[in-house]
Amino acid sequence: MADNQKYTAEEKARHAARVKEREARKKERQKQKKALTKQAAPAPKAPATNGGHKTYDASLLKRARNVGGPPYEAFLKYLPHDCTEQQVTRFFAGCGALEKAPRILKDRATGRVIRGFVTFSEESGLQNALQKDGHKLGGRNVSVTVATTHGTAQQDGTHTPAMASEVVEVLGARNSNGVFVDGTFGRGGHSREILKALGPSGRLHGFDVDEDAIKAGKELERQDSRFTIHRAPFSQMLKHLGDKVQGVLLDVGISSPQLDGGRGFRPEVEGPVDMRFDATDASETALQYLVRASRQELAAALEAFGGERPAHARRIADAVALAKEEDPTLQSMTTSKLAQLASAAKGHREYQQMHPAKMTFQALRVAVNREFAELRDGLQAATEACGLNGAVAVLTWKHAECAVVVDFQASNALAERDAPLLKYSSGVTDSWGVVVDQARRPTDAELRRNSRARSAVLHVHRKSRGTRLSDLEAKAGAALNWAPHIIPVPAEVRAGCDRWGAGAGKKKKKRDETPEERKARKKAKKARRKE
Ligand SMILES: C[S@@+](CC[C@H](N)C(=O)[O-])C[C@H]1O[C@@H](n2cnc3c(N)ncnc32)[C@H](O)[C@@H]1O
Repeated sequence: MADNQKYTAEEKARHAARVKEREARKKERQKQKKALTKQAAPAPKAPATNGGHKTYDASLLKRARNVGGPPYEAFLKYLPHDCTEQQVTRFFAGCGALEKAPRILKDRATGRVIRGFVTFSEESGLQNALQKDGHKLGGRNVSVTVATTHGTAQQDGTHTPAMASEVVEVLGARNSNGVFVDGTFGRGGHSREILKALGPSGRLHGFDVDEDAIKAGKELERQDSRFTIHRAPFSQMLKHLGDKVQGVLLDVGISSPQLDGGRGFRPEVEGPVDMRFDATDASETALQYLVRASRQELAAALEAFGGERPAHARRIADAVALAKEEDPTLQSMTTSKLAQLASAAKGHREYQQMHPAKMTFQALRVAVNREFAELRDGLQAATEACGLNGAVAVLTWKHAECAVVVDFQASNALAERDAPLLKYSSGVTDSWGVVVDQARRPTDAELRRNSRARSAVLHVHRKSRGTRLSDLEAKAGAALNWAPHIIPVPAEVRAGCDRWGAGAGKKKKKRDETPEERKARKKAKKARRKE
């Protein structure tokens, strides 16, 4: 049968309509681009303060950037592969004062410069910089556009709390005189927001295990008598609390100062392979863990805790085992050497711009700090600590953390009115359980202020009383002589979490390629289509 006979007349008409629509959209885009270019025409005479550069229409600039104010940041592409910050500074000399040194991003596998960002103190600086679009630097025509997807910079030693106003709202802290818990104090970003909202006789207990976090907590204790800091894991909170509490926050994972400090958490920052949150205790460091763990244990941890693909996890574990053949104590292993080893084991490949060893480092951090076991125990402790209607809010950052929370919530859920298992409710006594709110993600406005919040998911459950689904399951199972289900719960839960996970709904990034490479790719694509 000829190809066109495979389609019905209706399908053909639909296809024709789609093609027409696509063409119309393309024409519209071209028209808009033309109009913008016209608008963007340089002012006839440049103001003296612009150092002789032409200016762009400010409203156009704002529209292109879709933000109303600073940072005045330019995004650079097609930089020379060996480009330095100094070269970039010189390239933009005369445009205006820079707010900070330019940021140069390198391809982690090849070490070549791929992109960069330059932030100006004033809008005019950015306007002038845009005039350099297409100018030559080190033999390449550099593309200069307004940064729209820039990462926001985090000042050293600080941590910007994610979804802070949502946290205050879901905990019900505003004007409350109840007792609250911040189980992961960090630098106290969320604690400060909760204290701002609390009533005069409200109370807040903070917990952390990191020495620097405790120092910051002691400082806050001196400033606000409603606050108390405890140096203890959040799983132990019940030992430190008296009355029932109204709300608990767990912002799990790592704080920006921990991540950026030289404690081995990042593959890009040279340092010892330590990764303990509490660096003063005698617990195992990540290096000691690598030395102790078998190939199989390490491969399983890389997959379960880091989200590494099974084949990559095995190869990285094998590479570590080979390194141990040469030096069983891995004495000379530093973060950069471990990063190189993991990256080489994976063939230096990674999606998006992630460091190939990022997931290895994450997995080691989770293993060393027993993060998932702590989270499970912490969720139990937090829910027990709450009085009826108390809220437990958890900020997760990774699919696997998300899975632990969703699994806890599902295991402790109360039966809804129409639950089929309610048939077996006679004799089942009521007890506490949880009612789950819809999970939330940061707003676009927050992401523009703090790009590190991009993978945050806020989970909330409230303590309530009723018939627990797990009790009904046990009752029905016994009555019907059912064998227990053998369902790989984490896998199921993980699949459910993907809806909110870090990669959800994200657009694929454009490839990093030169105009010539882009042209060649498009040509090849066209040829393939013709075939
Ligand atoms: C993401 S940060 C929290 C940042 C904090 N919300 C803020 O706004 O500054 C996580 C913090 O939890 C701490 N932490 C991790 N596991 C913990 C545990 N089991 N018990 C107590 N604190 C823990 C870490 O040391 C870190 O300081």
